[in-house]
Amino acid sequence: MVLKRTVFKDFRNIQNADISFSDGMNIICGRNAQGKTNVLEGIYVFACGKSFRKTKFKDMVRFGSDSCSMRVVFTDSNRENDMKINISESKRETVLNNIKITKLADFVGHFRAVLFFPEHLSIVKSEPSVRRTFLDNAISQIKPQYMVAINEYAKLVTEKNSLLKNCEQYFDFENMFSVLSERMAKYSGYITSERIKYTKLLFDKVSNFMTDMTNGKEQISHLFVSNASKDGDANEDASLLEKYYYEEMMNGKSRELSAGTSIYGSHRDDIDIMLGGVSARLFASQGQQRSIALAMKLAEGSICVEQTGDSPVFLLDDVLSELDRERKDYILSKIEDRQVIITSCDESDFSGIDNVNKMYCSNGIYTQG
Ligand SMILES: Nc1ncnc2c1ncn2[C@@H]1O[C@H](COP(=O)(O)OP(=O)(O)OP(=O)(O)O)[C@@H](O)[C@H]1O
Ligand SMILES: [Mg+2]
Repeated sequence: MVLKRTVFKDFRNIQNADISFSDGMNIICGRNAQGKTNVLEGIYVFACGKSFRKTKFKDMVRFGSDSCSMRVVFTDSNRENDMKINISESKRETVLNNIKITKLADFVGHFRAVLFFPEHLSIVKSEPSVRRTFLDNAISQIKPQYMVAINEYAKLVTEKNSLLKNCEQYFDFENMFSVLSERMAKYSGYITSERIKYTKLLFDKVSNFMTDMTNGKEQISHLFVSNASKDGDANEDASLLEKYYYEEMMNGKSRELSAGTSIYGSHRDDIDIMLGGVSARLFASQGQQRSIALAMKLAEGSICVEQTGDSPVFLLDDVLSELDRERKDYILSKIEDRQVIITSCDESDFSGIDNVNKMYCSNGIYTQG
């Protein structure tokens, strides 16, 4: 997959930009707060259907404007594609190859990207939601219906939390509790099952990358943690998981009521990453944790190629300056035959690298360099 061109109008601090990319390494250089990350955000929206900044679509409209548009032109193994998003106060319009798309599930899964930014380097020790988001973004791009499920599930969690918090206001609490639990268990079964399957694939590859990166010294393993795992066994069968989740929810009603929040369901899933048989979160050094993060991102890229037949576009936001020489060289060597778009404040990060398409960003204005 090759991103050929992006066009932004009144997107964040970018009034107008029409940027061409080469199929190898592309570097966006510029001082802080100029609009480098904004462009990666605008590109990644086409992969995941939402901002990685967890802001709303309307926040992307340039201050003082009432609408904004984003466009990507890319080739996959079949054809050239053109996707657009137009955002205004009242509506959002998504277009794929000149056809208006109304369902998010029909929009995601066409353009695929792996995003890597400095916060990801601490994925091993971050809170569980960061690891869940990693899985959700990766799986959604391969299975768009998964994205629909996580969106629907998030609404159910909000609904059940409100029920649990204000239980005395609901005369039919018991009934609502079981209806919501049943629906949450159904989605949780599917979501956790997909996550378990993906995590297994992921860690097979992470393990290979780690062996490669550390000359076989670091042995990595993982444990998928969910409150539907029985006796530590992460069963990946969706209907069994659904059954376990439902049982947990119904048996744990009083716990959920006293907590005033939903305790059971896939919103509590996590991955326990282990290095040399012990928890990497607790015992691995910062360098080892960073190597795992790097391996996870590379593994995400490999799975995407295997499952879709197309290489995703790698988007690296300021991440190279955070890595030491060895890890920097490693990641660059692993993605040298892929399309990569890298932002950086420091051009010297790329000295000695040939065939680079360089561009500069200053105050939201892009110039090809
Ligand atoms: N809706 C918006 N309208 C106008 N400007 C915005 C909007 N949202 C964000 N900005 C501005 O965009 C600017 C550039 O942000 P961006 O994150 O792209 O910077 P950057 O070049 O990546 O900087 P750094 O090197 O510090 O990461 C910020 O100063 C921010 O205030
Ligand atoms: Mg930035």
